[in-house]
Amino acid sequence: MIMSGNLLLLLLLVLSSFTGKSESLFITEGSASLEAIGFFRLTNTTKHAYGQAFNSEPYLIKNSSDGTVPSFSVTFFFAIVPEREHNGSHGMALVISPTRGIPGAFPDQYLGVFNDTSNGLSSNHVVSVELDTHKDDEFDDIDDNHVGININGLRSVKSAPAGYYDKDGNFINLSLISRRVMRISIVYSQPETQLNVTLSPAEMVTQPEQPLLSLNQDLSPYLLEEMYVGFSASTGSVGSIHYMLGYYIFPDVAYPSLDLGVIPVLPPYPRKASQRTRNILVVSLTFSAFVALVSSAVGFFFYLRHKKVKEVLEEWEIKYGPHRFAYEELYKATKGFKDKQLLGRGGFGQVYKGILSGSDAEIAVKRVSHDSRQGMDEFLAEISTIGRLRHPNLVRLLGYCRRKAELFLVYDFMPNGSLDKFLYSESLTWVQRFKIIRDVTSALFYLHHEWVQIVIHRDIKPANVLIDHQMNARLGDFGLAKLYDQGYDPQTSRVAGTIGYIAPELVRTGKATTRTDVYAFGLFMLEVTCGRRLIQPRAEDREVVLVDWIMDRWENGDILETVDERIRQEHDREQLEVVLKLGVICSHPVAEVRPSMADIIRILDGVSNLPENILDIVKAAEFRGAAGVANLRNSIPNLTYTESFTSQGR
Ligand SMILES: *[C@@H]1O[C@H](CO)[C@@H](O)[C@H](O)[C@H]1NC(C)=O
Ligand SMILES: *[C@@H]1O[C@H](CO)[C@@H](O)[C@H](O)[C@H]1NC(C)=O
Ligand SMILES: *[C@@H]1O[C@H](CO)[C@@H](O)[C@H](O)[C@H]1NC(C)=O
Repeated sequence: MIMSGNLLLLLLLVLSSFTGKSESLFITEGSASLEAIGFFRLTNTTKHAYGQAFNSEPYLIKNSSDGTVPSFSVTFFFAIVPEREHNGSHGMALVISPTRGIPGAFPDQYLGVFNDTSNGLSSNHVVSVELDTHKDDEFDDIDDNHVGININGLRSVKSAPAGYYDKDGNFINLSLISRRVMRISIVYSQPETQLNVTLSPAEMVTQPEQPLLSLNQDLSPYLLEEMYVGFSASTGSVGSIHYMLGYYIFPDVAYPSLDLGVIPVLPPYPRKASQRTRNILVVSLTFSAFVALVSSAVGFFFYLRHKKVKEVLEEWEIKYGPHRFAYEELYKATKGFKDKQLLGRGGFGQVYKGILSGSDAEIAVKRVSHDSRQGMDEFLAEISTIGRLRHPNLVRLLGYCRRKAELFLVYDFMPNGSLDKFLYSESLTWVQRFKIIRDVTSALFYLHHEWVQIVIHRDIKPANVLIDHQMNARLGDFGLAKLYDQGYDPQTSRVAGTIGYIAPELVRTGKATTRTDVYAFGLFMLEVTCGRRLIQPRAEDREVVLVDWIMDRWENGDILETVDERIRQEHDREQLEVVLKLGVICSHPVAEVRPSMADIIRILDGVSNLPENILDIVKAAEFRGAAGVANLRNSIPNLTYTESFTSQGR
């Protein structure tokens, strides 16, 4: 048999002696539809609806001569994708019925099989196996996750919680609404007049030996000669998508091994926010899937073809999972990037406030335009790292979207905005200022030392520190400066970062390191502590450049003079002094003098002390640095941070 292309959707093998017909198709009813991909979706997101898929032609189930029902076996693969994780809708039922569906059936607890008057009538001639995900007391349901054998109605003759027995006879639970593909088999033996029902996960090629349900009952009084076989499912006030995946009938007692090969991955319940996820349904069930079938089997098989994912995924996305938003999604969230939604403009682009439809999550969308393909590619590759960074003092990057030369970065929304908005207004106390410094220290320590690879921020400044609703400081925009680092040209000194915060060696070499981050962080510390900008053109001459002024006062022995009186009077002068000195060392022009973030944390927490002779070291290094001494590391007195015994054990 040659199977090719998309024709492989439906394969039909019919043993004429059993059906008397050469072929049969499934007919859908209600909300059911045949998915392009090759299986039936019995219910969609419509509530209080039912859907059915039945054979177009009936099977000969009962001998007309003696009225007996010969042995038969029916196997289906199915899956249920609930709207809510722990709450199914109503469920589905494998139905053997004299008609294609039952006229006037109801949804909800009636599963699209009966209605309130037909339920339980002996004239129904319906035998079904229900996969019930809702506990209906009117039908004496045992729980909301059970399998039951029903005859002519919805009250089960026999039922059991969903699951199977393993080789050792242990019962293993299965959740019907777990989105897992499962197999349900019903086997009727005429000599024993016994109906066995077995549930198992699809990946189990060989069925469990012990059935879940076994009913000793002659079915011949209930079944008619010609019967239709199919599935019905219904939804109530909660939605669920019920899938019928593959189906197999055998005119005898049979427990065939059925190997699905690759088990299809079903898409999550469709949310308004991401219709896209429905498109990323990747199933790759191939023809070989059912090869394990017994050769004389009779049945219909649905073949699930590998479908090309519509969007071309970036290489890293395949490796690390996508954080990609659809442009339409962001466009909608920001009301079309309206000016009213604009939160601010930064060096790298505009930031818009948005609300993701479906989840109501507040987001900040940064729109960055960039024309260098190379820089963009590298930055996108870095997003796989950045997107996985998680720290309470980092602004979370939720994802990105790329559209032509524009890049959109999606962050958690920070209601209090960026630090530079109120840093200079003297409204912050020293306690608050110190907490901000300490928070950003934690974030940088995490980026430099705690993450599996070193992440360099490249653009530390008050505008990139955001304040969350609990007044915690969070560092944002990490790595973005790298996007502008490409094609760095020493001749023009175009360096990514913000003027004033760029370390001197970065201008010389163009190479960002953890030490260039520390340089910018040192200036940030001074700015936050003193509550003024790095350069204040209208100040007195000696006060124009903040660092120079602090250095000058330090040498004079009154470093605290540089701090605003309101801040200074409040608290712990010793701590203020340490932070100022630390800020000066961190922003030292000679990279080797700057401490690491690990040192900084220890000093801020009082675990380590600044060296006694720190001022001498700073001045000596400055002199040598200015004189261009090559081997600086050897020429600077050793800079070590001694343990502070007084402060230990706090
Ligand atoms: C669900 O099925 C019903 C009934 O066929 C149909 O009217 C409705 O448009 C479908 N809804 C969706 C979202 O496909
Ligand atoms: C199986 O389900 C029952 C009933 O819900 C529960 O009591 C039991 O703990 C479950 N067992 C396992 C192994 O999950
Ligand atoms: C039903 O299962 C029992 C084991 O519990 C087995 O002995 C019997 O043969 C099975 N009947 C059919 C029809 O498969």
